[in-house]
Amino acid sequence: MPNGEIVAGFLAPHPPHLVYGENPPQNEPKSEGGWEPLRWAYERARKSLDELQPDVLLVHSPHWITQVGHHFLGVRHLSGKSVDPIFPNLFRYSFELEVDVELAEACCEKAAQRGLTAMMMRNPKFRVDYGTITTLHMIRPQWDIPIVGISANNSPYYLTTEEGLDEMDTLGKATREAIEATGRRAVLLASNTLCHWHFHEEPDTPEDMSREHPQSYDGYKWDMRVIELLRQGKTAEVFRILPQFIDEAFAEVKSGAFTWMFAAMGYPELPGELHGYGTVIGTGNAVMEWNLVKAGLAGAAAVPPSAAGGRESYAGAMR
Ligand SMILES: [Fe+2]
Repeated sequence: MPNGEIVAGFLAPHPPHLVYGENPPQNEPKSEGGWEPLRWAYERARKSLDELQPDVLLVHSPHWITQVGHHFLGVRHLSGKSVDPIFPNLFRYSFELEVDVELAEACCEKAAQRGLTAMMMRNPKFRVDYGTITTLHMIRPQWDIPIVGISANNSPYYLTTEEGLDEMDTLGKATREAIEATGRRAVLLASNTLCHWHFHEEPDTPEDMSREHPQSYDGYKWDMRVIELLRQGKTAEVFRILPQFIDEAFAEVKSGAFTWMFAAMGYPELPGELHGYGTVIGTGNAVMEWNLVKAGLAGAAAVPPSAAGGRESYAGAMR
C-alpha cells in the first residue's frame, strides 16, 4: 500500500477544562461553560478536519509518560475512564476508541530502525491519558476515525533540550515513513500548550472567566512572537528560537509533540492558520493548522465530504 501521506498537522492543546466547558455526555463533571474562544477555535478546526477526510489521527501526548523509549498504543479497541490527576474535579471521561494498530506497528518499527527505543503497548485494560483524550475529543468528538497514540519519552527532560528534541525529530521522520509505507491519509496532532506558567489556585467556580488571563506577561509576549512567526510561515526561525522559548516561557512544546509533527511534515515554511488563542489557568493555548492539501503539498480527498455517507464505516472496518 504505497503513497500514504500526511494531509495536515494541528497544534491541538489538551487542557481538560475545554472538555469540561463543553459538557459532552462522556464527561461526568458538569459546567456552566467557559473558555469559549478556545472551544470555538476547535470548532473551526473540526470543520477543516472533516473536509480533509483522514484515515487516521496520530497524537503525541505529554501526559502518557514512558521512562524507557517511545511507546505506541497497540490494542485495536480501548475503552475505560480517563481521569486528570491534577483536575479530577473537571475531567472524568468515559472513552471508547479504535486504534490503527497496523500503522502503530509500522511507526514503532521505523523508529527502531532509526535507532530509537520503541515499544508497542499491548495492555487491553490500558487507561488512556487525559492529554490524548482531550485533544482527540476537541478535534473529533464523534470518535469515528481510528487513532495512533504515541507516548512522551520525555527525552528533552532527561537529556539537554536540543538532544531531546533531536530525538523527536527522528521520531517524526520515522512516523512519516510509516504513513507513506502503509498508504494512510493521516492527520498529525501535536498536543501541546505554548507558555506553561500557570496559577496555583483554582476559583470556586473553575469556569469563572473573570479570573482567567495570562499568568505571565512575558510568557504572553513569547506566545505572540512564536504565533506571529508561525502565521508567517517562518518555521526555521521558530525552531531556531525554540530552546529559548522553552526555557523562558516554560513551554510545553519541550515534551516534543511540536517538533515530532514538524519533522514528520518536513518543516514546511508554510503559514499556519490560527483558529484561536486563549489561556487556561493562565497558560497559553493556540489551536493552529498546517493544511498540506490547501498548500498543494498533499492530495485532496477522493470523495467530497457530502458524498462520503458518514464515517461509521471507518470504525466498523477497524473492528
Ligand atoms: Fe499538559
